[in-house]
Amino acid sequence: MAGRIPEQFIDDLVTRIDIVELIENYLPLRKAGKEFQALCPFHGEKTPSFTVSREKQFYHCFGCGVHGTAIGFLMAYRNLEFLEAVEELADLAGVQIPRDTTDKNLVDSKEVFEVLGEAETFYKSQLRTAASKEKAINYLKNRGISGETAKVFGIGYAPEGWRNLIDNLAKNGITEEKLARGGLAIKKQTSGYYDRFRDRIIFPIQDKRGRVLGFGGRVLDKSEPKYLNSPETEVFHKGTELYGLKQAVASGQLESLIVVEGYMDVISLYQFGIRNSVATLGTAVTATHLDKLFRHVSKVVFCFDGDKAGKRAAWKGLELSLPKIQGNRQVEFCFLPEGHDPDSAVREFGSDRFFAASKVYSLIDYLLDSLRQKLDLSSGEGKANLLATIKPFMEKLSDTTLKAVAARKISDATKFDENLVRQEIGLIPRVNQRKYINAIKNYTSRSLQEQAIGLILASPSLANQISEAEMDFIRDNLSDCNILFEVWEKCTSEDLTTGSLIERFRGTATEQILLEIATVSNHLEEGQSAVELKEVFKKLHSKGVEQQILSIKNLSLADLTEEQKQLLRGYKK
Ligand code: UTP
Ligand code: MN
Repeated sequence: MAGRIPEQFIDDLVTRIDIVELIENYLPLRKAGKEFQALCPFHGEKTPSFTVSREKQFYHCFGCGVHGTAIGFLMAYRNLEFLEAVEELADLAGVQIPRDTTDKNLVDSKEVFEVLGEAETFYKSQLRTAASKEKAINYLKNRGISGETAKVFGIGYAPEGWRNLIDNLAKNGITEEKLARGGLAIKKQTSGYYDRFRDRIIFPIQDKRGRVLGFGGRVLDKSEPKYLNSPETEVFHKGTELYGLKQAVASGQLESLIVVEGYMDVISLYQFGIRNSVATLGTAVTATHLDKLFRHVSKVVFCFDGDKAGKRAAWKGLELSLPKIQGNRQVEFCFLPEGHDPDSAVREFGSDRFFAASKVYSLIDYLLDSLRQKLDLSSGEGKANLLATIKPFMEKLSDTTLKAVAARKISDATKFDENLVRQEIGLIPRVNQRKYINAIKNYTSRSLQEQAIGLILASPSLANQISEAEMDFIRDNLSDCNILFEVWEKCTSEDLTTGSLIERFRGTATEQILLEIATVSNHLEEGQSAVELKEVFKKLHSKGVEQQILSIKNLSLADLTEEQKQLLRGYKK
């Protein structure tokens, strides 16, 4: 079991696993507000003080002080080594552990990519040379896919027969074992292998760089299953990849990405000029998908069929989006006319009328509309119910601007006073006084750096409030802000939870410091934290200015720059 596990993998793993679901396997968890509670398994107690936060992907016991991430929990509860815990979580998540760069395993992955690339070439060639190519070509023609579009997406054909791919790639020295590792050949129970994809239209699934990760294969008739996809392999992870992302990114400046359900949807939309759609791969959209989408664009449009499955998928999209909306990020929901999927809709309405023919909702409108349909708003009770039902959703929504929009709309719908609504949905903080005072007491006995780290640890996205220029200024002038800087840098370059942030420092001295700080940073409301963080940074800034002045005070006036002179003049103390 040689080879270090890449940091990125640990990150992804912690993101993919839900700590609440994990711990629920071992302890009966009870929901308490935003968090979950149980009797602490690490010390004897009668009232629960062991707390698990889904949002932070972190557990903490207020009684005995233990705390950690999903990995930490398994290590402590089950007495596992770090690697054992990672292996167990990887198993749970259904992913393979990749090994580090320098050892031979990465070379192996490279080989898998080569095999997949060769398979793609083979499948494409079959549209020209296979004995049964006519029916494949006819199928594509009947579905209205132009030759040009087929080329953009690398569409191919896996001919009838059990060993076409195996025998053909054997000529290039590719073994059946290697094909199996790429998910392309299946081992028989007796002995030998056979081709996974047979008599199917082949859609290569590529990453953004154009490397083939796997394939989807569609039958040409009505047989089942309609689509067969590559299994999870060391290079193909359905919960992460988006079909069509490469083509979308290559099509030019992207403003939004449209998330659809099927391969054919992406392909038809593209052919009709809507070149910014991607599809999940036969799985529901995941938080990882959303992070990926928001790395490319600030606006994500979920576009699903109006049927039950489509609505369920949209709702999942809504729930996952709430915590991710911040700054100029935006999520919309587009429901197609009855009986249509994006493929058929774009063919009927064209790209111009595609959205006009559909119902497009903003995130808040979709949420409100869905809840309203379940409640009778003509009675006072129904109105109160709406407010109560929407509260947990508002708790997940961190963006205050959107919350304000929601408050107005809820107030419109219920006729409740807007200020009351604002309070109810946590827009105007109703701080629990005692908790707040305790938290502040904790903070003021700590250094400014620790206070800032504590706040960012609790809500990593807060780091984005601190500009690079400000952070640079503080780092240049205050000698003890290195850890703060490291934390800030990590949190601004990617979306992390408290748990995954701490995992990034595993095994370092910094990790110990972060774990310690994390235990006292659990108390503030998000809105309160934002205000607090600004305060702390203001103080850090003043300290920075002080330091700057100290360092130039001893220089002779002649050596000072104009800026430094101004600084001295402006310094009153
Ligand atoms: P749909 O059943 O909605 O089909 O599956 P579609 O995209 O409209 O396909 P066409 O138009 O009949 O060709 C949507 C997606 O769900 C996954 C595939 O990724 C498909 O594109 N799926 C569907 C499977 O993985 N397996 C199946 O058997 C069916
Ligand atoms: Mn379809």
